[in-house]
Amino acid sequence: MGSTSRRAGGRSMPSPHGSMLALEAPLATVRAWLRRVRGARALAPNRRRDRSESLSHGEAGASWVESPSASRCTTVVSDRTSYRLNPSSEDTLSPVKITVITMFPEYFDSPLEISLVGKAIERGLVEVTLIDLRLQGRGVHRQLDDAPFGGGAGMVMMAEPLRESLAPLAGSHRVLLSPSGAPLTQSTLDRWAIGGPLTLVCGRYEGVDQRAIDAYIDEEISLGDYVLLGGEAGALAIIEGVVRLLPGAVGNPDSTRTESFRDGLLEEPQYTRPAEFEGVEVPEVLLSGNHARIAEWRQAQREERTRSRRPDLWSAYVARQRQEDPPS
Ligand SMILES: C[S@@+](CC[C@H](N)C(=O)[O-])C[C@H]1O[C@@H](n2cnc3c(N)ncnc32)[C@H](O)[C@@H]1O
Repeated sequence: MGSTSRRAGGRSMPSPHGSMLALEAPLATVRAWLRRVRGARALAPNRRRDRSESLSHGEAGASWVESPSASRCTTVVSDRTSYRLNPSSEDTLSPVKITVITMFPEYFDSPLEISLVGKAIERGLVEVTLIDLRLQGRGVHRQLDDAPFGGGAGMVMMAEPLRESLAPLAGSHRVLLSPSGAPLTQSTLDRWAIGGPLTLVCGRYEGVDQRAIDAYIDEEISLGDYVLLGGEAGALAIIEGVVRLLPGAVGNPDSTRTESFRDGLLEEPQYTRPAEFEGVEVPEVLLSGNHARIAEWRQAQREERTRSRRPDLWSAYVARQRQEDPPS
């Protein structure tokens, strides 16, 4: 953090991951290398922008090169080159910064481009940096895993590559996606949406060397009581959950204030046109125009739904109600 990289035309700009950008490969070499390793996908030379279109070049011979599909405010640090499209000049807000450490930066290409997340990135509300963990891999094969001490199935992510990626991000809140973590909740997302920079670490293989977790991870978070192949889906869930809480990210801010989990309850059933669908009519109260009755009906539905579907949430809700309003 904190070093600078040069921009086309000699202007300086902050580099989010200084040491990793100090790469020496000339662009042509990087391109040739990438074509060999990944085919034509990774860089499309004819898509490289003219300098006047705000393409930035990194320091000391490193190159900022456009990702064929990365959003305008997404930085990808990958494959011995780094590419970034600058936020446009109309971006005046200070964006929430989310860094993702992953073996598969390309996993995020489409989800970061579409829908409200794509728009939030485009508008500079959030800045996502994808760091390819493979950059820190060991040897010619950029190995990231090794066999577990004590034997057992699968491989374990080594501590050193994680250290190299995470140490420069010490100022950020570093979160490891892990089935052993605390379950992801709305209140966790609330906390992160107003907090400082966030780093999401996506595990793979059978897990991560505990020493790297102890030294470089601030919090472990689980998506639920099941096992996925990697942490990328969890990182995307977190990005979506945080982005929709940012002021201006969703059209009607009320929608993030009146939804499931806000008051410990699930949301009530929703209806829209037509008023009758396959012979089933919308509850009469919703057509009444009586706002007090509608609010009462919605609250009763929320409570009933939570009681029947989520006894865990319901008990916590009842306990909280008792605390706030103890029986006399
Ligand atoms: C195959 S999993 C490893 C599972 C591990 N052996 C265990 O039993 O807990 C590989 C990686 O996927 C991610 N992952 C899998 N399931 C997850 C979940 N429920 N929540 C968050 N991350 C998960 C983690 O980053 C994990 O390190």
